[in-house]
Amino acid sequence: MTTYPVTKCLFPVAGMGTRFLPATKEIPKEMLPLIDRPLIHYGVEEAVDSGCKDIVFVTGRGKRAIEDYFDRSMELEQILIDKGKPEYARMVRRISEMAEFAYVRQSEPLGLGHAVLCGESCCRGGYFGVILPDDVMLAPPGFSPVLKQLIEVHHRLGGSVVALEEVSPEETSRYGIISGEMEEEGLYRITDLMEKPAPGKAPSGLAVMGRYVLSPSIFDLLRNSSTGSGGEIQLTDAIRSLSVNEPVWGIMYRGKRFDCGTNESWLRATIAMAMRRDDLRKIVMEEVGSLACPGGINAMTN
Ligand code: UTP
Repeated sequence: MTTYPVTKCLFPVAGMGTRFLPATKEIPKEMLPLIDRPLIHYGVEEAVDSGCKDIVFVTGRGKRAIEDYFDRSMELEQILIDKGKPEYARMVRRISEMAEFAYVRQSEPLGLGHAVLCGESCCRGGYFGVILPDDVMLAPPGFSPVLKQLIEVHHRLGGSVVALEEVSPEETSRYGIISGEMEEEGLYRITDLMEKPAPGKAPSGLAVMGRYVLSPSIFDLLRNSSTGSGGEIQLTDAIRSLSVNEPVWGIMYRGKRFDCGTNESWLRATIAMAMRRDDLRKIVMEEVGSLACPGGINAMTN
């Protein structure tokens, strides 16, 4: 069994973010804030804390803000220093120093699988991580970041690894769902994958969530993929083909996922994240409390 250090992480960020229009008309979905940092910042931090030194963004039209965010901003740093706020200057500088950043373009949003294929020139040398940044994942204290949990399985057993979560039967139509054989508690060898099966048609309740460690063989499989569900090149289909010739593991990751892909889930994520912070919890409680009071909503709308 050969395993490889996983030092590159691919971030597909070329999607259109239609479910967040009109906010995403000019702002990339990945730049929407979760409290005080854009979504993409959490994902990059997770990759870096998992040992990745090279971050590859697959971008598209209207995504320049992501490049600017991770670029050094000398002007802003100088203004902050001149204003007597060196700690802010250091904070913005640290963002550009988190990793080495590279950008490739996906000229048309032809699906997640196609976006990953666009990253081939940067990632073809070995196993690489993939993070979908609208799923912000935080590991519990004392546990490795979620991507690192996958990398640890790769180092132990070889092969590709995906993150799994149990979903309810009504939710299977939103995710890739696996069939697999349990190797040990919380670890499955994947034997089949189905993209967004209708309720009742799903082979299990185990859904693939936005973290992957992938073999470079995935690129040939993606290149030869026909378009799947929704007329897009599906990553799920290529991972299914990969599992025929190489081991693909699924792990029930340890952590909390904040789905930020829709208005409703982003709102939940924002509240949940604020409730975890000592400085913000009281504010959420106060606001929710005032709405629960008789006349609370009227008081707000008047
Ligand atoms: P999503 O489907 O969640 O994002 O794709 P989206 O397409 O931006 O959102 P909607 O459906 O229009 O509201 C998951 C991830 O894959 C990327 C997205 O940017 C997101 O990070 N993606 C998706 C691409 O990079 N290219 C694509 O063609 C599709």
